[in-house]
Amino acid sequence: MPRLTIDGREIEAKAGQTVMEAAREHGIFIPYFCWHPQLSVPGNCRICVVGVDDKGGEWVDIACNMPVSEGMVVHTNSEKVRARRKATMQFITLNHPVDCGICDKAGECTLQDYHYEYNGERSVSVDAKVHATKHHDLSERIVLDNERCIQCTRCVRFTREVSKSNGLGMISRADHSLVRAAEDGSFGRDPYSDNVIDICPVGALLSRSFLHKARVWYLKPTASVCPGCSRGCTVNLWHRRPEWRLKAPGMRTANESIDRVTPLENPAVNGPWICNKGRDLAALLGRARAEVAMLKGRPAELQGAIARARALVASARRPVAVVSSWASNEELAAFKASLGARFATFVKADCQPEPGEVVEDALLIRADKNPNTAGARALFGDAPLAIPPDADLVLVWGEGLDFGLIPPGAAIIHLNAWLAPENGHADVFFPVSIQTERDGHYTNFAGVTSAFAKCFPKAAGVADAAALFPALAGAGGGE
Ligand code: SF4
Ligand code: SF4
Ligand code: FES
Repeated sequence: MPRLTIDGREIEAKAGQTVMEAAREHGIFIPYFCWHPQLSVPGNCRICVVGVDDKGGEWVDIACNMPVSEGMVVHTNSEKVRARRKATMQFITLNHPVDCGICDKAGECTLQDYHYEYNGERSVSVDAKVHATKHHDLSERIVLDNERCIQCTRCVRFTREVSKSNGLGMISRADHSLVRAAEDGSFGRDPYSDNVIDICPVGALLSRSFLHKARVWYLKPTASVCPGCSRGCTVNLWHRRPEWRLKAPGMRTANESIDRVTPLENPAVNGPWICNKGRDLAALLGRARAEVAMLKGRPAELQGAIARARALVASARRPVAVVSSWASNEELAAFKASLGARFATFVKADCQPEPGEVVEDALLIRADKNPNTAGARALFGDAPLAIPPDADLVLVWGEGLDFGLIPPGAAIIHLNAWLAPENGHADVFFPVSIQTERDGHYTNFAGVTSAFAKCFPKAAGVADAAALFPALAGAGGGE
């Protein structure tokens, strides 16, 4: 284990580590653009320079490609290092437009941060900036501003080394270099393409769905779990900060909607990546909601629906429940505690792969398109769904059950969050909350449990399933 000194602090590094890796592991900051912990090391941006003591002098080189060695003495912030970084920032910003006022990356841009940290001065160049394509359609999802690109190649390496679509490359040389998509359209088909938006250190790669939608400092992240498949990637759901709520009439939707989704790094589940389906959770969770309880298709007060359902549960001789693999562990436990002894229970898949969706791959995407099948099966087993013909009450929780499987004559209690034709076919229908309206946990296919947190209030008339089940068993109010 080589021992070295960084900024006067003696540390023990791992054999084979670079100075960048050893410094980060010990909480010592070295700036970087092109380096990324999950990608190869091209060493092209030169902002990570550090000084190394040598025979009474100090030589300067890049930390991201410098192996540690026994006894080396490194300086991350010496006068020589700061001078080199300042010159590097002058060079990198030579052709970079002053777009910060209109750039979606402002507030999260390392170029902006490092400019003020290491340079902070006007350009020393007297030449006009080299112009390039300002709005290049890289794919249906991503717009590229070539003038903002600093040619770090992170995006190119991501498609080669992580998603393996080989969807991006660089054309031309020097200050005419341009990132371009491969002509075979592979970048447009890459189900992980939007990760390049996150890893681009500047505002060159822009999400079309988020383009000019909000300044990032108006938004706040809430930790959540993608329900798109049984990987259960941890994500941040970005939504309007309460202090920056839009006050114009009719803004409830804008104030209470997901503006963007980014990965919440989690080595045990998804590393720093998510797939594009996870980016599109606003559409998946934002489908038209059911907000009114019903008795045989007629709108009813929630308390009246609870009373009717409670009577059905009390009088049933052979009740069967089909529980949701989109339910949280807390909701499933509430069902088991309140009604588990009363109902024969099966777990169903609420969602199946959509046409055109990548069903499964070797990186993250799983064939089971439900987030908590493992959590539900842990409580209710994995018996194949078979509703007995003499069942006289079927409680259907969530989407995905073919109502044709329910024996004719059986009463139906149905819980669903979204509008669907089946809702009106139930004897009692309850609109229920979704994961953005309550706290909870899902357990993924590998047994890893991750938490999600509430970010929006639920509508009046919508019930929380965990409170509903005790009420159906005869205890509590249920809302
Ligand atoms: S588009 Fe962004 S990630 Fe890609 S090379 Fe340019 S600066 Fe780097
Ligand atoms: S891999 Fe699955 S859980 Fe992860 S973002 Fe994609 S759909 Fe969501
Ligand atoms: S981070 Fe080291 S050269 Fe770019």
